[in-house]
Amino acid sequence: MEYKYDFLVIGSGLAGLSYALKVAEHGKVAILTKTKVSETNTSYAQGGIAAVTYKPDDYEKHIKDTLIAGDGLCNRKVVEMVVKEAPGQIEKLIGWGTNFDRESSGKFDLAKEGGHSENRILHHKDNTGFEIQRALSQAVMNHPNITVYEYYFAIDVITQHHLGKLVRRYFPNIECYGAYALDLKSGLVHTFLSKVTMIATGGIGNLYHTTTNPSIATGDGIAMVYRAKGIVENMEFVQFHPTSLYNPGERPSFLITEAMRGHGAILRNHKEEDFMTKYDERGSLAPRDIVARAIDTEMKMSGEEHVYLDCRKIGKDELLKHFPNIFEKCKSIGFDISQEMIPVVPAAHFSCGGIKADINGCTSINRLYASGETASTGLHGANRLASNSLLEAIVFSDKAANHSINCIKHYDYQSGIPVWNDEGTTHPEEMVLITQNYKEVQQIFGYYVAIVRSNIRLQRALDRLEIIFEETERLYVESKLSQILCELRNMINVGYLIIKGAQQRKESRGLHYTIDYPKKNAANDMHE
Ligand code: FAD
Ligand code: SIN
Repeated sequence: MEYKYDFLVIGSGLAGLSYALKVAEHGKVAILTKTKVSETNTSYAQGGIAAVTYKPDDYEKHIKDTLIAGDGLCNRKVVEMVVKEAPGQIEKLIGWGTNFDRESSGKFDLAKEGGHSENRILHHKDNTGFEIQRALSQAVMNHPNITVYEYYFAIDVITQHHLGKLVRRYFPNIECYGAYALDLKSGLVHTFLSKVTMIATGGIGNLYHTTTNPSIATGDGIAMVYRAKGIVENMEFVQFHPTSLYNPGERPSFLITEAMRGHGAILRNHKEEDFMTKYDERGSLAPRDIVARAIDTEMKMSGEEHVYLDCRKIGKDELLKHFPNIFEKCKSIGFDISQEMIPVVPAAHFSCGGIKADINGCTSINRLYASGETASTGLHGANRLASNSLLEAIVFSDKAANHSINCIKHYDYQSGIPVWNDEGTTHPEEMVLITQNYKEVQQIFGYYVAIVRSNIRLQRALDRLEIIFEETERLYVESKLSQILCELRNMINVGYLIIKGAQQRKESRGLHYTIDYPKKNAANDMHE
């Protein structure tokens, strides 16, 4: 079947939904999402969204904190733009029905997280993302110009390549005409033609065996754009959240928000020492890369499988008021966090790199935008400041919406796009080959491409990945399409980009730390 929409949006997290709501005033919109509309990284966000709200905070402080975390690779112009747009975008979120916690005076209750010099995190208890997703999903479902296609898996974006033309990376005139998507209920592949397309497919956490990300985060958009010969950058900067709940077997790992440390919780090792003071003067509230690396070191030195987060001194009433979900979750597995320390371990959390997007969310492919975690905008540089990613998603989707609305009059639907060629047969025995390769990728990344890297580990990861790549490409050609096969293929593409980026970066900076080049090379600093 062939569908035509003015705007095609792939992804139903904050980036996709906020873009859709803005462009829907100017044309018909389709949103494709591979499971339910609400199953997104956005829904899992706990801590909140960063924005300058009251004195003594000001834009300069938020800009400075973001640049320090980014460790020399942020684009200053982008950082300034995002920080200054933040208050206006928070108003939009509130306008769509999002509730943020307030004090009894009516002022916002602002939290603090690692790397922030002021309290500036707007939040809804400890489930801010769930609240944002609830409000925006409702607004989208009620909008007459928006159609949501749940359980539609985008396979590839459509370009001149599908018209039989030669397309090379760095060609300036690649155009996107829409996407092919697999209807997961019927098994049929449909063609979605659009005037413009927004990729908002989120993160990559499932490349790792320990991650805070739900299973949708398999880097699909990044892989699609890479295959379409678009530009992808900075993939070596994978952020590990220092504190996910140590609960072996649970997937995704349950996050223990950094806002708890903002409230005074302290990291401790098995001797109950406040070990972070040895690593950084900011102690438990140092930026994430430093804290995650320190925990990794403590675990390797002690041989233990986790460290602890001690929030006992916060007190039960405050814990219940600010962190009710974490309190309940820990209670459900048998401990009372007002009396006992929480076992925590770092987990893959966020991709700073992704599809290269300019200040308007434009990618290197014409008529194709990227926003949210799938994009690399220059905001995060080598390390993201906590609670800056929801902010990035809403600001860049706004910019991209304005740009799309202005451009759409120049575009029409492309004719002559062929239907998807779905030759191939299903072999039941192949499913185990796919699931085993999926797990193997997660093991490879968990062991060899994680918080501390080395030349030898990266090379081993690449060698192993190449074998899995060959096997998977063969399966892709021979078999009928399935979601897991497409995801595995995407993860391999993305994994390749992470390893290559890491091998090419002959220094340690931000989230990329390698024992072979432990120092930063100032020559690589960004000067924009
Ligand atoms: P997502 O919200 O992940 O949405 C991606 C969408 O794309 C989903 O709908 C998915 O189904 C769809 N999709 C993917 N591939 C395909 C495909 N092939 N076809 C069709 N659909 C597809 N950030 C903060 O700023 N503050 C926080 O407090 C915070 N806490 C976090 C806590 C957790 C546990 C996690 C996991 C992340 C947290 N983050 C936080 C990060 C933040 O939530 C994400 O970066 C952000 O929500 C990403 O939004 P997005 O719209 O780009 O992607
Ligand atoms: C958290 O709540 O600790 C997560 C915040 C983030 O990832 O920005």
